[in-house]
Amino acid sequence: MPHSMKTPETKAGGARRTVRVLDDLDAVTAAGRERFLAAAERAIRDHGVFRVALAGGSTPKKLYAALVGAPIDWSKVLVFFGDERCVPPTHADSNYRMAREALLSKVVIPGSNVHRIYAESGDVRAAAQEYEDELERVWGLIHHEMPRFDLVLLGMGPDGHTVSLFPGTQALAETKKRVVANHVEKLGAWRITFTPPVINAAREVVFLVAGADKAGVLREVLEGPRDPQRLPAQLVQPDDGELVWIVDRAAAAELAPRA
Ligand code: 6PG
Repeated sequence: MPHSMKTPETKAGGARRTVRVLDDLDAVTAAGRERFLAAAERAIRDHGVFRVALAGGSTPKKLYAALVGAPIDWSKVLVFFGDERCVPPTHADSNYRMAREALLSKVVIPGSNVHRIYAESGDVRAAAQEYEDELERVWGLIHHEMPRFDLVLLGMGPDGHTVSLFPGTQALAETKKRVVANHVEKLGAWRITFTPPVINAAREVVFLVAGADKAGVLREVLEGPRDPQRLPAQLVQPDDGELVWIVDRAAAAELAPRA
């Protein structure tokens, strides 16, 4: 039986924040699957469609695989991506490719429901603008309105980045645009990424974090002083939504003991 500890819900800048600590990646995956299914059911019941943004990186891969065969009407699911690397969709580093291989190619989902970021185009700013426009179209947004995702899935890197909001990068300060091209000096690369206000407009945001290499940064992000330039994951504070951290015991090793 995976051991689970749940902090009492705490307020973090308006967000309801819950931290769940589970035994290992399998338990994190199972809990992530449950939240995904619950969010899908609630959204489809409430407004007929489930709009979800997927995370890249390696942690959610098992979750995507675990969603194959799940009781979801995929024709009512609109899939987006929180960030993308500037590579073709067939490239090993492509977040879209990972999600397609693990999940999207294995369920019956109309191609038009899958909104990928065309990050391979060469013109990174145009690619970001195109995705910005895509969100505008799907939600029917005007001016600087933000889309309200039913669920945004996130991961966190050992340097405290989430989506492609890396420490010290320009995108951290973005308040108006929904999607930007972000140059990440330490990678020597551009990324296309959601901005903080898009994530914070979501109804529910779920971080999946596993592994001992995340322990120090997880403590700093959750329990340390606020320093989002260095710890971008601290920027995630939904304005009117729920924030859930699902972490494994190795990643939680340095958190203060909980009741
Ligand atoms: C990406 C991401 C990124 C990722 C973290 C965690 O494209 O790399 O979206 O924010 O979620 O780096 O990645 P892991 O799950 O591989 O540790």
